[in-house]
Amino acid sequence: MRTSVALAALGAQIASAVVSLEVSGADFINPTTKDRFQVVGVAYQPGGSAGYDPEHGFDPLSNPAKCMRDAAIMQILGINAIRVYNLDPNLNHDGCASIFNAAGMYMMIDVNSPLVGESIDSTAPWTTYTKAYLNRTFAIVEAFRHYPNTLLFFAGNEVINDEATAEFNPQYVRAVTRDIKQYVAKNSDRPIPVGYSAADVRSVLFDSWNYFACSEADEDDDMSRADVFALNSYSWCGDSSYTTSSYDKLVSGFEGTSVPIFFSEFGCNTPAPRVFTEVGAMYGKEMTPVFSGGVVYEYTYEANKYGLVNISSDGTVTLLDDYYALQNQYNKIDFKTLQSAAADGASVKPPTCSSKLISSKDFSSNFTLPKQPVGVDALISKGVSPTPTGKIISISDYSVNYTVRNENGTVLTNLAVKPLASNAANTPGSNTASSSSSTTSSSSGSSGSSGSSGSSTSAAFGRVEMLWVPAVALGAVFPTLFALFL
Ligand SMILES: *[C@@H]1O[C@H](CO)[C@@H](O)[C@H](O)[C@H]1NC(C)=O
Ligand SMILES: *[C@@H]1O[C@H](CO)[C@@H](O)[C@H](O)[C@H]1NC(C)=O
Ligand SMILES: *[C@@H]1O[C@H](CO)[C@@H](O)[C@H](O)[C@H]1NC(C)=O
Ligand SMILES: *[C@@H]1O[C@H](CO)[C@@H](O)[C@H](O)[C@H]1NC(C)=O
Ligand SMILES: *[C@@H]1O[C@H](CO)[C@@H](O)[C@H](O)[C@H]1NC(C)=O
Repeated sequence: MRTSVALAALGAQIASAVVSLEVSGADFINPTTKDRFQVVGVAYQPGGSAGYDPEHGFDPLSNPAKCMRDAAIMQILGINAIRVYNLDPNLNHDGCASIFNAAGMYMMIDVNSPLVGESIDSTAPWTTYTKAYLNRTFAIVEAFRHYPNTLLFFAGNEVINDEATAEFNPQYVRAVTRDIKQYVAKNSDRPIPVGYSAADVRSVLFDSWNYFACSEADEDDDMSRADVFALNSYSWCGDSSYTTSSYDKLVSGFEGTSVPIFFSEFGCNTPAPRVFTEVGAMYGKEMTPVFSGGVVYEYTYEANKYGLVNISSDGTVTLLDDYYALQNQYNKIDFKTLQSAAADGASVKPPTCSSKLISSKDFSSNFTLPKQPVGVDALISKGVSPTPTGKIISISDYSVNYTVRNENGTVLTNLAVKPLASNAANTPGSNTASSSSSTTSSSSGSSGSSGSSGSSTSAAFGRVEMLWVPAVALGAVFPTLFALFL
């Protein structure tokens, strides 16, 4: 009896663990299936930058009830990754990370925040590249490295935006990339990619890519080289086209990339409402050879008017026109075929860093990086202290506690996150449980919210599936439970 309870608990947890993705050549891959992964992401910053408030103890991943609501809404849409910009390493993110993990969604984590001392100041980067800054940056890595669904860390977001910011910042962003990669290599049980999220400013875009993705030492393990390169692009507006939007120029510009490329933000909002016809191009045959998908900007409607949903002060959510327009476009994509395409396995040798790679005279061709501030080597070798930590926790109730309305004001009933089988990333259609009629009986039995029902059968199947997870990763994430098997 004791054994079966322990196994059921183990199954219930692991059944919902996604496989940690890896970078292979210019692709994200699932190391278990070797399938190539296309990002179907959404930027998640409810409340805008005010949604990050360390003084009052909250950030976008600190409230599990809200994460449950939002994960369910995203799951129905077909999202498989969220991007979160501003996080406090000292808050507990276990509930939210576990919910998104169970829903089959990865997390892209920006290590910086807009608060002073928590990012590189692009007007004078040398004043902000300090031991205290790196300590906080490493604390973010510690807080998120244990979650299997942490997809990557962004070392910087739009630090280089024009000629003026292109002179000194490249060295500093590449230095921060180096420092995070050294920290991950020394302290993490698995490799977690580190990348840069660029502004789509064409005068500096391709130089940024070349600067960050080149190899300094002409070696594969070049520590300062970005593992991925992403861009925030708003060049497709309205019902545009592959050429009118200049997406064709992005594809030709990034062709032959040695690292994965994707949109870390997309979704021009003039004209509004949005029609999201870029989705067809993004996941179509012209772009997928070079691009690995994109992150739509953004989940919540804020003053900047980009939201898919509107959240009122009591936490009630209304799905907006943009939500349905995006869903309509996702539904046209054959994600089943797309997400099961084999990675091509070709690894492109990164170009060697050299001024020849840089085309603008204003862009730095200085590849000598700033030295690490004094004491950072000890932070890397000993780890930050106190050490934030994180772990996947068991969730007993996947139902949503907030009211969610469709565009016509009708309440969605039976709304819940549907925990997916291990190994599964979310796709459109995986969660169809809710219905938008307030009169529908809640006993339809299809809500998918039975994660905790103690049904030992499903828990046991979950456990069997889980055994495909590499033992090393499993032991790292669930050291105590894993010991039960030994
Ligand atoms: C929703 O409310 C129920 C009942 O109060 C509670 O047990 C459950 O934990 C809540 N769910 C979340 C995600 O907070
Ligand atoms: C380093 O970061 C941790 C986690 O945020 C924090 O508790 C600690 O005070 C920081 N140490 C220094 C010296 O700033
Ligand atoms: C969002 O909801 C608020 C009320 O909570 C309303 O004033 C506002 O107009 C709504 N915005 C949109 C875009 O629907
Ligand atoms: C290159 O950048 C490094 C680090 O910022 C700096 O120390 C060095 O002086 C720069 N070299 C030149 C030639 O500007
Ligand atoms: C909202 O109402 C319109 C008009 O009746 C209908 O066409 C549309 O499908 C409804 N939306 C949803 C999500 O049910």
